[in-house]
Amino acid sequence: MVKASDFKDKHFISMMDYSREELDYILSVADKMVELEKTGCDLAKGKVLGSMFFEPSTRTRLSFETAMFRLGGSVTTVADPMTSSAKKGETFEDTISTISNYVDVIAMRHPDNDAALRAKKVAKVPYINGGSGTWEHPTQTMLDLHCIRYAKGKIDGLAIGMVGDLKNGRTVHSLLKALRNYDVTVYCIAPDALKMKPEVIEEVKDKIKVIEVSDLPATMPKLDLVYMTRVQRERFATQEEYDKVKDSYIMDKKMIVDNGKKDVVIMHPLPRVNEITTDVDDMPNAWYFRQVKHGIYARMAIIALVLGLWKD
Ligand code: NCD
Repeated sequence: MVKASDFKDKHFISMMDYSREELDYILSVADKMVELEKTGCDLAKGKVLGSMFFEPSTRTRLSFETAMFRLGGSVTTVADPMTSSAKKGETFEDTISTISNYVDVIAMRHPDNDAALRAKKVAKVPYINGGSGTWEHPTQTMLDLHCIRYAKGKIDGLAIGMVGDLKNGRTVHSLLKALRNYDVTVYCIAPDALKMKPEVIEEVKDKIKVIEVSDLPATMPKLDLVYMTRVQRERFATQEEYDKVKDSYIMDKKMIVDNGKKDVVIMHPLPRVNEITTDVDDMPNAWYFRQVKHGIYARMAIIALVLGLWKD
């Protein structure tokens, strides 16, 4: 049986590291955080989170920091990479070793795909991956799973569509890996140039059914939940290549009314560019702004667990 102490002093790096039982356990702790977020608590009193974001972030950084404050802890932050010594040529490993001396837990975002795996080797305190290049974004997945349970009341039995930049989007890589543990069918909906990374499909294909298609309107009637994503402009070599695919899929009110199940749930990790039109925002199907709130619950749970502050 999974226990709180299983997570103590452990890094939080990849969704491949977690079983169904472990994911469900973390989600059950996130459920408890829904109340604690309202009242505040002093579970993490005296503890410090080092929040280091070497790529732009609004939701992930602010929700990590807010989660730590809600737990009663403190935060020290690098939100602008131009102000850290990485700019002077300090190696990534030396930066991590240094920060390990100051704080009790690190939450970091970095443009390199292997950043989280390299950090794991040198970090002396738990390292939480807040986004590692195009590789993974596992805490986003915990909030996504928590939100799916609120929106649909369950995860098992759902037909889930992931739409957009499945090649470069780290959120969908982590989400697909986590979903391998559930009884779901996943439709990966992307144009050829943005198809789901083959190595990610390889990791999950023995556990769940993954169907790769490119036609969103035709697939829409089958879906219980649609996870839209932004085309990741910053990962393209040229503007021309980005322009070719940037408008691949647009979810609008008409698409939902004409092609979707009545209760289809629309999620998005945000930020959105143009892939969901604003006429969807007021529909009961729109969950992407409610989804944001689950970032606090999920991150409160992860911080409390890796710091060994949560007791069964
Ligand atoms: C995502 C990310 O950074 O990968 N944002 C987030 O953390 N909510 C998605 C994106 O930038 O498209």
